[in-house]
This record gives sequence, structure tokens and C-alpha cells, in this order.
Amino acid sequence: MNEMERISRAAAVIENACGKADIAVVLGSGLGNYAANLPEERVIAEISYGDIPGFPRATVAGHAGKFVFANIAGKRVAFMCGRFHSYEGHPMADVVLPVRVLNRMGVNTLILTNAAGGVNTSFTPGTLMLIEDYLNLSGKNPLTGANIDELGPRFPDMSRVYTPALRQIALQAAGELGIPLRKGVYCMMSGPTYETPAEVRMVRILGADAVGMSTVPESIAAAHCSMEVLGISCITNMAAGVLDQPINHAEVMETGKRVEKEFSALMTRILEKIDIA
Ligand code: HPA
Repeated sequence: MNEMERISRAAAVIENACGKADIAVVLGSGLGNYAANLPEERVIAEISYGDIPGFPRATVAGHAGKFVFANIAGKRVAFMCGRFHSYEGHPMADVVLPVRVLNRMGVNTLILTNAAGGVNTSFTPGTLMLIEDYLNLSGKNPLTGANIDELGPRFPDMSRVYTPALRQIALQAAGELGIPLRKGVYCMMSGPTYETPAEVRMVRILGADAVGMSTVPESIAAAHCSMEVLGISCITNMAAGVLDQPINHAEVMETGKRVEKEFSALMTRILEKIDIA
């Protein structure tokens, strides 16, 4: 089976179980509760990744591993609770498979969220950051290999990965709610180790404001197939060496929980404000 067949087969199974979607949202570490907390009457259907042919399994604690389809402000939104990371050993084609499947289902707007370490020293744990651009220091690219011409070009333009109009909507939504939303550059490192203090100093010099282990592959795959993309990082901890304390996954999850209310309010307002064609 070639990759387009794998994509189409998964799309058909999801669509059969959950129907179509207008917008998709990838919920990052500690942010998955957004879908869990949706009022029951908004939820349309769910499907576990394990029930989708060709899908790998999510293995990180705090990632549920399912799609939840819900109705938000008259729009059908597909929430991905749990994503696939390359540090888990998943090939890049698997990491970006859900994005391509969603695109195949007709989704043209993708919201990517993640937990990230704060590199910009004016951030604090709990800061929400609008991703303006990325640095890919993961050493990998999901488009490596034969180009899938049905999806997009061999050499895609990356000068506007994060759609300016969506960024404007996010800033307006945050302004209306009185939620501070900082702007910045997200740097992807390979993980699964957190960075060393020297690496954090390096990426700061290179222009990063936040550092994490996800989001860039999905951003690249989405840009490749001409999707509109919005990215939001939750700064769950200050990156290594900024504070004189170690980083651990529990802190990442705790901060996600602490900002859950603000994050949820912002997400809902953004979803309300996005006009689908
Ligand atoms: N580094 C990389 N990834 C992360 C971090 C971090 O400090 N915090 C949450 N995800």
C-alpha cells in the first residue's frame, strides 16, 4: 500500500465513525482535558487511534490517543487528544499521518498546541505563546523521501507557515478575554531528553522563544498540503538553566492543568471567531 492509500483508508474509517470536520485541533501535553471537559451535548463522536487502520499508538502519559469530534459555534471540530512524537520512535510519516488524513477529509484549518519550555526569560510558567515561526533543530523533516505530488510540491514555501489571519484572530480572541498572549518562535529539538543549559543558550541566540519536541513536523506537513495553521504553546516550565532547578514531566503536566481554564477559554473563543469558507 502506498502512503496515499494509507491516508485515504484512515480518512474513510474516521469519516464513517465521526463524519466530516471543518477544523482540527491537536491538543498537546497537559492540554488534552479541553476535549474531556466539553459539555456532552457538544460531542458528536469519538474514535480511538487503535481503531484506525494504519495509525500508530500514542505512548506518552497524558496523551489519550483518540479523536473527539465536537460541535463548537456551529463548526465541526476534530480534536486530537494525543499526538505521535518522533522521540517515541515513530517514523516521521507516522507523526504527520493524522494531519494528512484530516486534510484528506477536507479539513483546511489546523490548530496545533503544545507544552514548551520558556527560552525567552520574560516568560513564566503558564505563559501562552502564539507561534509566529519555527526553528527545526530536530534533525528530521517529514517531507524527506519521495515527494507525494498529490499532497504538495517538492520544495514547499515556508515563509508563512502560521497563517497571518489566524494569528490575528488568536490575538483578538486573547485581547477580548484579557488573556495575555505573547508571540514567539518555537524551536523543535529531537527529545526525549530535555535540553542542556548550553543548548538553551544556543537556541536563544538563534532566535527561539520556546523549545519543545513536537509541532514542527505537523506544521511542515500542513504547510505542504496548503492548510492554514495556527500554533499555540503553553510555556509549562522555564527551559533548562533559566532557573536553578531541574525540569520534569510532572511539572509540565501540572502547569498544563493550572492554565487549563485560560487555555480553554482562549481555544473556544478562537474556534468561535474562525470563519470557515
Ligand atoms: N523542553 C522541551 N520540551 C518541553 C519542555 C522543555 O523544557 N517543556 C515542555 N516540553
